[in-house]
Amino acid sequence: MKAEVYYFTGTGNSLMVAKDIAREIEGELISIPKALGQGTVKINTKVAVIVFPVYMWGIPLIIERFVKSIANLEDKTVYAIVTCGGMPAATINIFEKTLESCGGKLAAGFAVRMPGNYTPLYGAIAAEKQKKMFDDWKKKCKTIAKYINAGKQGKKENNNILVNLIFSGLIYNLSAKHIPEMDKDFWIDEKCNKCGICQNVCPVANIDLNNGNPTWKGLCEQCLACLQWCPQQAIQYGNKTAARKRYHHPEVELTDILSHAGK
Ligand SMILES: Cc1cc2nc3c(=O)[nH]c(=O)nc-3n(C[C@H](O)[C@H](O)[C@H](O)COP(=O)(O)O)c2cc1C
Ligand code: SF4
Ligand code: SF4
Repeated sequence: MKAEVYYFTGTGNSLMVAKDIAREIEGELISIPKALGQGTVKINTKVAVIVFPVYMWGIPLIIERFVKSIANLEDKTVYAIVTCGGMPAATINIFEKTLESCGGKLAAGFAVRMPGNYTPLYGAIAAEKQKKMFDDWKKKCKTIAKYINAGKQGKKENNNILVNLIFSGLIYNLSAKHIPEMDKDFWIDEKCNKCGICQNVCPVANIDLNNGNPTWKGLCEQCLACLQWCPQQAIQYGNKTAARKRYHHPEVELTDILSHAGK
């Protein structure tokens, strides 16, 4: 094994990217929520690849906690691959700064376009459009793997300065701290059959079941795993999600997401 490939995912895009890259670079796949559950993280290879989705033009809060929990960043060659629905803005820069504040250094950071999963704003895109993105990724995966295998450094796939300033510098910086309490807009409709899957897919144990009914605890990552993997589509967010098509990567199974959460 030549590298460790750490991943965080809600709907499987980042898991598939992590799996594909791990295969190409002879890496071992490691779930970030599971690794964090062990307390301090120790990277066991020279090279580490960290794969996660873009949230609000920045990094998920769990990624910041994860980086802070790594005990031996100093001599590691760290690559980042972020998946996004269309615009990463300065996510790679934000990750790089987080890494540096913990004594690490980013070798390179890549952004991969995948189907968007933010159902509060839009439904899943058509299967043909999804397939085009997956095909594009297969090609980009080979390029990134070649880059990592050659030990190259320097590429940082951010957007332009203006976009970065507005979306990451302004919006992400103002909104990120409110993410944990954004779960107050989740609710369940009459289709809920109390199966408990939402509780088990949550990567941060943010869902309790009270008499079988899910309740959210205010420690959310907004990964949307609960909403997307509910087999009854009974979880809603705000007042527009009932009619919207749910999304998860078509090759990812519920068991993969349960395992990501440590279940
Ligand atoms: C809370 C949240 C915020 C998001 N913000 C962005 C964003 O700022 N830019 C973007 O291009 N995609 C955004 N997306 C879309 C995801 O980054 C994208 O679908 C990603 O591939 C999902 O990864 P996953 O399947 O591994 O969870 C957001 C998704 C969620 C759930
Ligand atoms: S996964 Fe859906 S059906 Fe199952 S308990 Fe949660 S909300 Fe109810
Ligand atoms: S409550 Fe839902 S959206 Fe929030 S972290 Fe858990 S699974 Fe993700």
